Amino acid sequence: MERGVSLAPLTTFGIGGKAKFFVRVKILDELRESLDYARDQHQRMLILGGGSNVLISDEGFDGLVIKIELSGVEQQGEMVVAAAGEQWDGLVAGTIEAELWGLENLSGIPGSVGGAVVQNIGAYGQALSEVVQWVEVFDTESGKLKTLQKNECVFEYRDSFFKHHPELVVVRAAFELSSVPQPILTYKDVATRLGNTASLAEIRKAIIAIRKDKFPDLAVEGTAGSFFKNPIVSAKEATRLKDRYPEMPLFVMPETQGVKVPIAWLLDKKLKLNGFSLGSVRLFERQPLVIAANRGARASEVRALAEKIKKEVQENFGIILAEEVKMV
Ligand code: EPU
Repeated sequence: MERGVSLAPLTTFGIGGKAKFFVRVKILDELRESLDYARDQHQRMLILGGGSNVLISDEGFDGLVIKIELSGVEQQGEMVVAAAGEQWDGLVAGTIEAELWGLENLSGIPGSVGGAVVQNIGAYGQALSEVVQWVEVFDTESGKLKTLQKNECVFEYRDSFFKHHPELVVVRAAFELSSVPQPILTYKDVATRLGNTASLAEIRKAIIAIRKDKFPDLAVEGTAGSFFKNPIVSAKEATRLKDRYPEMPLFVMPETQGVKVPIAWLLDKKLKLNGFSLGSVRLFERQPLVIAANRGARASEVRALAEKIKKEVQENFGIILAEEVKMV
């Protein structure tokens, strides 16, 4: 157990104060001990994975931060089981090496396997929930391991059962992949690069190239990807928006009732906010749903920019945005 550990370097935003207590857990027993400690000492607890979808406050965290470093990947036929602390993109690269289909469009996403599950990551026509078979969690209330089958995980767009049950810590997940080629090349930028057929390696390469253009370079500045979720509105609301902006692309969500509104499009085409900055943070030039932060930026600056965007979107379009990034 360490004290006063700076959290900024453990996040892709590169922002945030110190943790009062901090521990890295590599095995399940360490997780158990850390959770017992937090309970006995009446400390709040924060589970940290790859730190790629959090904004930690400038004051840091007054409690115990547990960084999940559980490791191990096992392949059993077409099923791959990965520990929560594995790097997401390392897992994807491994499945591509093994010629297994199902995760290739999710190439290049920073973060851990555990975070990817909680968040139900999705990109370029693929979502993690489509291939999850089960998720193993440690229930901090009962002190026991539990396995949830896919349907019990209540996956939705950037949402899962785990997001609403912080007492459950994801420890492993199983992905049901396929050795039969099934390229998903529907997303416009992907189709432009690859046409209508491609190998796993070609898809991975194309996705990584597309992402390079859409996200800030983490070696230079900070980000947590899309800062807000694209709102899902009713068919009636969608019609209202479509009447006003006939050129706006809308995406019907088959899994939930409703229509997904591309906020990046509205921010760019209607509000001309690409590159808009406040202090050391700004909306990324080539993807305004993404907030980029200069080295040394503060969480308070990101929050101020986010508030400004929420206000603009509500005033101009009557839409209330929700953060995708977890605010600590
Ligand atoms: N657009 C513009 N101007 C821009 C950028 C985009 O007009 O500067 C338009 C695009 O042409 C497109 C629309 O806005 O019609 C949506 O943009 P894009 O396809 O880039 O995706 P997004 O909806 O902004 C979502 C996910 C991303 C994921 C991409 C690709 C959310 C919140 N974000 O972004 O996920 O990578 O689709 O599938 O759903 C993340 O969750 O952190 C994330 C990065």
